[in-house]
Amino acid sequence: MTEPTIEDYFLEERTFPPSAEFAAAALVSDDSLHREADADFEAFWARQARELLSWSRDFDTILEWELPDAKWFVGGELNVSANCLDRHVAAGIGDRIAYHWEGEPGDTRTITYADLLAEVQRFANVLRSLGVERGDRVAIYMPMIPELPVAMLACARLGAAHSVIFGGFSPDSITDRVQDGGCKVIVTADGGYRRGAASLLKPNVDAAVDQCPTVSAVVVVERTGSPVTMVDGRDHWYHELMAAADPVCAPEAMGSEDLLFLLYTSGTTAKPKGIMHTTGGYLTQVAFSYKYVFDLKPETDVYWCSADIGWVTGHSYIVYGPLANGATSVLYEGTPDTPGRDRMWDIVERYGVTQLYTAPTAIRTFMKWGAQEPARHDLSSLRLLGTVGEPINPEAWMWYHEHIGGGRCPIVDTWWQTETGGQMITPLPGVTATKPGSATFPLPGIGVEVVDEEGNRIEQGGGYLTLTRPWPSMLRGIWGDHDRYESTYWSQYPGRYFAGDGAKIDADGYLWLLGRVDDVMNVSGHRISTTEVESALVDHHAVAEAAVVGASDDVTGQAIVGYVIIRNDAVASEELVAELRQHVATKIGPTARPKRVIIVPDLPKTRSGKIMRRLLRDVAEGRDLGDTTTLADPTVVEAIRDSAANGPGSAA
Ligand code: WTA
Repeated sequence: MTEPTIEDYFLEERTFPPSAEFAAAALVSDDSLHREADADFEAFWARQARELLSWSRDFDTILEWELPDAKWFVGGELNVSANCLDRHVAAGIGDRIAYHWEGEPGDTRTITYADLLAEVQRFANVLRSLGVERGDRVAIYMPMIPELPVAMLACARLGAAHSVIFGGFSPDSITDRVQDGGCKVIVTADGGYRRGAASLLKPNVDAAVDQCPTVSAVVVVERTGSPVTMVDGRDHWYHELMAAADPVCAPEAMGSEDLLFLLYTSGTTAKPKGIMHTTGGYLTQVAFSYKYVFDLKPETDVYWCSADIGWVTGHSYIVYGPLANGATSVLYEGTPDTPGRDRMWDIVERYGVTQLYTAPTAIRTFMKWGAQEPARHDLSSLRLLGTVGEPINPEAWMWYHEHIGGGRCPIVDTWWQTETGGQMITPLPGVTATKPGSATFPLPGIGVEVVDEEGNRIEQGGGYLTLTRPWPSMLRGIWGDHDRYESTYWSQYPGRYFAGDGAKIDADGYLWLLGRVDDVMNVSGHRISTTEVESALVDHHAVAEAAVVGASDDVTGQAIVGYVIIRNDAVASEELVAELRQHVATKIGPTARPKRVIIVPDLPKTRSGKIMRRLLRDVAEGRDLGDTTTLADPTVVEAIRDSAANGPGSAA
């Protein structure tokens, strides 16, 4: 091959080995797991499945693999809620706290494993009384309150699959998902608290449910006390049904390959895909990765994942991974800037959080707000930090390391997807010397290769990220559309799963994620990743966040346009814009110098915090905007248009 698939510009040379102290106490401190998995990955996963989970019937076959269909732990039977609850209570740790829940207004609930088991059994009986049976689907549209994991676990107890719909979605999005899944019941709440006010949920369900003929009942948790309309015979209050419910509900013995949940990923244009996850393999990989990637010490740790349970991160690393391991977690309802911009750090301090798992987009927001916010709190309880959801720019990584981690906490930058179910590429905190911005290496048992257009393996440099073998928590398909499953994930590179992400491998074999391949820019024939130019911009001390797109250009094919948010203490000016363009050229090379840099107040993001570069391309090319329904805040784009027309950099 003569030309690289995606060019490799950004060179990051800092490395951070775990401290001797961390490594000495870590669950994994050498390469034995990797060696074991390399020798026989099926046997490795079988050992994890048997050691980490309780099976009511042992499995006969570890893996049946008929590309693209995998079946893991065939013949095995287990119940996910029994693995997350009953066995811990039976083992005598029913008094351990499962969740320190905190509402946005400051109200709290402390929920032990025994409490959770009691509530889950009752709610399973409630669902059963509403006609839910093994094999059914139940939609859940809720704020971040304890009844949300309760509802999920109650479904799992009965063998019904849940389909959690993120609480920020509109009635149309609810309708699409409930119809597609053929859900029987919707569990919701009157509302939840966000930014100091009640945000209503039930009216959205009301607007959706008329178009959902399969739904026979709606269960409503009273959270905010906002007025709601209850339809007789269809709508029921959670607390009323719970008060009348039988307290005992035995868990169903489920087959390893029975459906545990559907979770819809919204493609930017096409119909959302109902990603299918099953029981035994999913729970094995999330329990394994949770334990070892976060180095869990369940007796003493207080773990906090700040994601929403409506995304896969919350499913795997707020609900199933932590509970399967008997961990203690913080569950927080609201936003990070209510009542002040130090809410996160206040929570860390008050609960003595030991592991914090959050998103790069949140970290860049904290950078913009400034280091004085975390500095007001004692964060010395933290011993490990994690990130997920996007590539993390090296400067954001350094800021997290220094201002949140106090320079002492290993950072696990975890690459994975809704489709992979669990973490796939990540440091092991007691072993891996990290490099800021690199997700480092595949977990034991996971096969990753970077390939060129033709599917040839690349030893060093940029290309496309592929997975070379099945893994236990892989998606089992797209609900109702097997062809789309095969063509989306398994047809680009025969025999491999194509993740849709660009990646590069450096001279030491470290993996660097380069963003979605749809976002790669082509400037005068150079294939440049948006991630690398963004990292170069964020490397400048005035910049908190950057989004880069290729806008069509008569001369160069595409020209690089950078949108930047500056830090609170920086001043927007033409000089700064010139300096930023030059900074990129100096940092990673003149080919990557942006043609324009525009200082903006905000960036368009999906509700899960991913930057919507497609909309920024529309702005850069002066086009009408495409579909904006997945945008978290639709007013942002107007502000960006205004900055592009009138602010510094507009004359370029
Ligand atoms: C991106 C979230 C770089 C990637 C768990 C992936 C990342 C998509 C990382 C999946 C990371 C996630 N570094 N990129 N550590 N983690 N991504 O389905 O593009 O919401 O394909 O799952 O997020 O997003 P999803």
